[in-house]
Amino acid sequence: MDRIDVALLGLGTVGTGVYKMLQSNQDVIARRTGLLFEVKHILVRDPNKKRKVDGVKNLLTTRFEEIMATGVDVVMEAMGGVEPARTYIERAIRSRCHVVTANKELIAKHGAELEKLAQEHGVQLLYEASVGGGIPVLGTLQHFLKANRILRVSGILNGTTNFILTQMGEHQRSFEEVLAEAQRLGYAEADPTADVEGFDAAHKLTILSRLAFGAVVPVDEIARRGITDISPAELELAHRLGYRIKLLAKAEQFGEEGPVALQVGPTLVPLSHPLSGINGVYNAIHIEADTVQDVTLVGQGAGEQPTASAMVEDLCNLFRLPLPRPLSYRRPLVLPVWEE
Ligand code: NDP
Ligand code: HSE
Repeated sequence: MDRIDVALLGLGTVGTGVYKMLQSNQDVIARRTGLLFEVKHILVRDPNKKRKVDGVKNLLTTRFEEIMATGVDVVMEAMGGVEPARTYIERAIRSRCHVVTANKELIAKHGAELEKLAQEHGVQLLYEASVGGGIPVLGTLQHFLKANRILRVSGILNGTTNFILTQMGEHQRSFEEVLAEAQRLGYAEADPTADVEGFDAAHKLTILSRLAFGAVVPVDEIARRGITDISPAELELAHRLGYRIKLLAKAEQFGEEGPVALQVGPTLVPLSHPLSGINGVYNAIHIEADTVQDVTLVGQGAGEQPTASAMVEDLCNLFRLPLPRPLSYRRPLVLPVWEE
């Protein structure tokens, strides 16, 4: 079995999830890909911090140079922020390492140039985890909707704000209390202003818009409003009038190669609309295209496990076989279900 050496940058919420999944699902991954992924180094800020996983002490380092000097096949970035993540990813690409990242801010701001650099160096840069947590939305756009003209991409793109609005609306809890819980659960960004002011959803919308329309839109050109001025009383009033308030994001193209309109903001969604039932940390992304018509993807949009899932799936897809290997061929027990 071929061994692939991996360096993990970051061992916070997402990095921990990635490390755990590579251990817990090693057998499944090996059977389906024929590969053994081994984490050789983990970059952190503070090597003395207590970690949520055992057996990593000897893998921790604070020096990226040390990682590059020993050589790895793949760098998985789960640090966040633009710098030094951007410099490290560039260095990894120039050293001909594949890169997997969850960093939406970085991909929103520098994704196009980093993708070009990766192409020039014959390596891949994958970032499924940057939009919609565990929902395979980028793969859907890139691999399964190649022949469609995409008309519009819209939905709920931020788990923290959906969690806050749901808890404030359904359980009359305060904004501050629920935000603190979202932080404890690992949903929120290091600076939660990014979530509650709509920047995080705007970063994700920029990424979707580049993949859907080929349109590179600077984040500061997106019409954006957050949820900080919405009170439990307003959520309750909206509900009495037959609506839920959701932080919606929408990217639309007018005519082929025409102008695009991108917006993020709290929106009244009728209770009869499927988006009104997407609650808690769940995200929903609705893709409208000329031939498939419409596709909606729903799943957990933030948190350790869903995000780790997206990163580890990217890792496996770097070495994609023509078709995934089945776990095993077996003759199952086939039974009907008795219906009254
Ligand atoms: P955390 O803050 O939980 O973890 C960040 C990790 O990176 C920590 O281990 C930290 O080290 C390390 N780190 C940060 N800066 C440096 C640096 N300069 N040098 C070395 N190590 C550094 O963040 P998350 O895991 O929540 O998020 C990571 C990335 O994933 C972000 O880009 C985020 O936007 C993205 N993301 C997060 C999701 C989520 O649900 N949390 C979902 C989807 C994407 P130390 O532990 O020593 O402090
Ligand atoms: N802070 C982000 C959110 C993490 O709540 O959606 C997932 O990208």
